[in-house]
Amino acid sequence: MKLPAQGLSADAVLATLEAYAGGDFPYESGRAFSHVFEPAPEVAELARRAYLRFLTPNALNPAAFPSALRLEREIVQMLAAHLGGGPETVGNFTSGGTESIMLAVKAARDGFTARHPGQVAEMVLPDTAHPAFHKAAAYLGVKAVVVPVDPTTFRADVPAMAAAITARTALLVGSAPSYPHGVVDPIEALGALALDKGVWLHVDACMGGLMLPYFRELGAPVPAFDLSVPGVATLSVDLHKYGMCPKGASLVLHTDRAHRLHQLFAYAAWPGYALLNTTVQSSRSLGPMAAAWAVLNATGDAGYRSLAAALLDTTRKLLDGVRAIDGLAVAGEPDFTLFTFHPREGDAGYRLADALGKRGWLVQPQPAWDGLPPNVHLCVLPGNVGHERAFLDDLAAAWDEVRAQPGEPSPRGAIGGDLGAMMASLGVTPDRLPDEMAPINELLEKLPPELRTDLLRRFVNLLYG
Ligand SMILES: Cc1ncc(COP(=O)(O)O)c(C=O)c1O
Repeated sequence: MKLPAQGLSADAVLATLEAYAGGDFPYESGRAFSHVFEPAPEVAELARRAYLRFLTPNALNPAAFPSALRLEREIVQMLAAHLGGGPETVGNFTSGGTESIMLAVKAARDGFTARHPGQVAEMVLPDTAHPAFHKAAAYLGVKAVVVPVDPTTFRADVPAMAAAITARTALLVGSAPSYPHGVVDPIEALGALALDKGVWLHVDACMGGLMLPYFRELGAPVPAFDLSVPGVATLSVDLHKYGMCPKGASLVLHTDRAHRLHQLFAYAAWPGYALLNTTVQSSRSLGPMAAAWAVLNATGDAGYRSLAAALLDTTRKLLDGVRAIDGLAVAGEPDFTLFTFHPREGDAGYRLADALGKRGWLVQPQPAWDGLPPNVHLCVLPGNVGHERAFLDDLAAAWDEVRAQPGEPSPRGAIGGDLGAMMASLGVTPDRLPDEMAPINELLEKLPPELRTDLLRRFVNLLYG
């Protein structure tokens, strides 16, 4: 494809974009259990207006655009107050959870190497911590030391993490909650451990930061997890998840300004402008920040509390409904809107996910891990409220269908040939994935995790042309 010789008309451009969007998941359907965090229609419309108003200003230069500094400070203050921060709490607006985590790991690494010049920093993390930590480790040259979680509760195993700490440990990680099982790690115990060992603790509250305080107010047993817990050094919270802000909105918060210094990057030893960056990105639209400010202010404490009540109610209905289906089990005791379930016997979790997909539900299959069979993950979203019965009826039907059929043997032996041909033989094309993903997932699961990861990375290299 080349640039069109002459610019196309706005109508032609928009018509083509609409056609491209035609194959996307219908996210307004209430059937997406991931990805779609959409506020009430009037707030969404306000966010769009705020976004467009600030589309062009560049957050790189708060001297030229002082609104950038003001918006960012106010957003940080609102969230710091929400998450147990004190007068010393500082933070920055980032493009997402991954960038917030990347910056927290960078700060911990640079804080560590300032104290231990020349040493490679280590990070001790539960195996349920989000892959963004591994990405940060890979980008930043930090060694990730992974510790399995407790196999029954799926929460971080604090004694095992303590045993993994060395003289090179820069930080510990806990999640509130973890993505795969929706449980909050024992942050108080991890904070005490961090203080005892003189290392930093990062709390990944990307998913839970906005809603967990309301869940607690509503009577749910939410363990302590925020900035007020002694030992917590940094915390990530995504506004573009349960803050319902348009994507490109997250915060990294520090309990101490001295820590934040290690996050920042400056360069003034070249003939051009002095580069002063709080984040990985440099030039960036102020749109996401203005939209986030608009959504936070338009929703307010009362709006988020009532959203939390609705999400809690829907999550409980879904949990009760899944537990009531003969032959299915929920993993652990989820603390949040994220949970996963699986057949009690056998390994038909992938086929169950496919059967739900065929009925129009967007759910995520998760691999077998440490004793848990393949399972089906739900992230309960505002759009799902009111669709509980429809989902549970479809789940019951999908499960009846799956358990009536013996599993197809997975296409072993396909591995080893040309990757493109192998993917084609499994029905994967550059345009779409096949409707039945179970054979692919079962095949991938047979591989050791490192090989699986490498294969997927090579596949993405083909996918993007
Ligand atoms: C617990 C947790 N942390 C971090 C992330 C990464 O967030 P993002 O996709 O915004 O980079 C996610 C994403 O789902 C998450 O669930």
